[in-house]
Amino acid sequence: MKRTLFIKKTLVFLGIIPSSTLLILSCETEENDDGITEEEKAYLYLKEKTSENGFFLDGKLLYIDTSNDHYSKLQNIGEFINDTNHYILLLRKTEDKVLALSNCCPHLGTSNRWSYSNGSFRCANHGNSYGTGAGSVANCSSNITSGNLKQYTALLDKDILTVDFDT
Ligand code: FES
Repeated sequence: MKRTLFIKKTLVFLGIIPSSTLLILSCETEENDDGITEEEKAYLYLKEKTSENGFFLDGKLLYIDTSNDHYSKLQNIGEFINDTNHYILLLRKTEDKVLALSNCCPHLGTSNRWSYSNGSFRCANHGNSYGTGAGSVANCSSNITSGNLKQYTALLDKDILTVDFDT
């Protein structure tokens, strides 16, 4: 397998670029020897796709430009955004990690009354708190009052966040 094709397929596998982009990138780069790496091309492609609203949804992959005004809070560690368009809480956990969690409260499903402190999200509807760790997942509206919020795989590449809803 040619190295460039392998890189493209790896980027798709990692969720850095959507599978639909593979063909586009193949066409754009097949005879292009401009010194730009495949990763840089994928990054620039996603910057362009997210430029209008800060996000680009491709099937079950959501791409977010954290430098866009709509998502700029994510540049600060400890800050979160309740992205009600995509039913997720986005939390800037560390310098290189953003968590993507379901915004559906595991108790009775409220999605718009979240606050965050000391590693937990608290739903103000009935005052229950939920963690951001792995395991002990408390599913949406399941009448559970403890546990961790459902988490989706999220990868940060420079300022582009990829969320995989198929996880
Ligand atoms: S709906 Fe969130 S605590 Fe009850």
